[in-house]
Amino acid sequence: MTVRDVPADSKSRRRSPLEVVPTPAALGAEIQDVDLRSIDDAMFGEIYRAWLERSVLLFRDQQLIDADLIAFSRRFGSLDQAPIQENGRRFVDGHPEIYVVSNVIENGVAIGSLGAGEAVWHTDMSYLPDPPKASALYALEVPPTGGDTSFCTMYGAWDALPEDLRDAALGLRVKHDGTYNSGGYVRAGVTPTDDPRTAPGTLHPLVCAHPETGRRHLYLGRRRNAWLEGLAVDESNALLDRIWAAATADALTWRHQWRAGDLVLWDNRCVMHRRDAFDPGSRRVMHRTQIKG
Ligand code: SIN
Repeated sequence: MTVRDVPADSKSRRRSPLEVVPTPAALGAEIQDVDLRSIDDAMFGEIYRAWLERSVLLFRDQQLIDADLIAFSRRFGSLDQAPIQENGRRFVDGHPEIYVVSNVIENGVAIGSLGAGEAVWHTDMSYLPDPPKASALYALEVPPTGGDTSFCTMYGAWDALPEDLRDAALGLRVKHDGTYNSGGYVRAGVTPTDDPRTAPGTLHPLVCAHPETGRRHLYLGRRRNAWLEGLAVDESNALLDRIWAAATADALTWRHQWRAGDLVLWDNRCVMHRRDAFDPGSRRVMHRTQIKG
């Protein structure tokens, strides 16, 4: 991998190495000048290494149909079937792996999930025992303003955590709630409850070692209905509030402003993400795949 400026006309001449341009933030890099429809194994190896190193990768100016998005995602591992939408629908006919994130209503029916509101900090599907290791989000239509997605490094969160919070966090398990999605909608088939101890979800270690990099990171999931196993709810909330405040400090985040044709791939094990609200009158259509560990 090299990190350098790329002349605009170099696309047809260059195959490898890839240009990996880290963001100025604590995570994220742009892989420039690559067409994800035609990468070879050597390029994929570089992409994979860059992804492990920077946790979030941006590829601009892609022209992917769903089959291309699926083919690229499958290089990382097998794909999950898309979860069921808030209104009980599955998504793209013929491509059960594709989950649609959108505010668009067609013929009175939402074509995707999460609407136009804020999506709070979360890890995708960590309410399951075996959440996806990666998510790939491809922008088909974006609003003129708003709808940015931010990413937060959970490696950095652990590294920057004050000593007393590290001591408190080690050895604990946290309940990752399965009641609400990141837009605040109740998941299909779930009876809502705000008691974190009885809400559906899964307990995961609060501090983990990444299975591929070995680096230690926090694993928080989402704040709503989170609960630290064995603690009284008040005590758990007080400790979680302190950990969350430290773990989502601006210095640990990178914000991405979308253009149509952007694909962003993140390591769902050591990264949380959130999305800004946007004007509900404008259209935002994103297709997502999720890759198993
Ligand atoms: C998500 O929260 O999974 C979707 C993020 C986005 O729409 O940018």
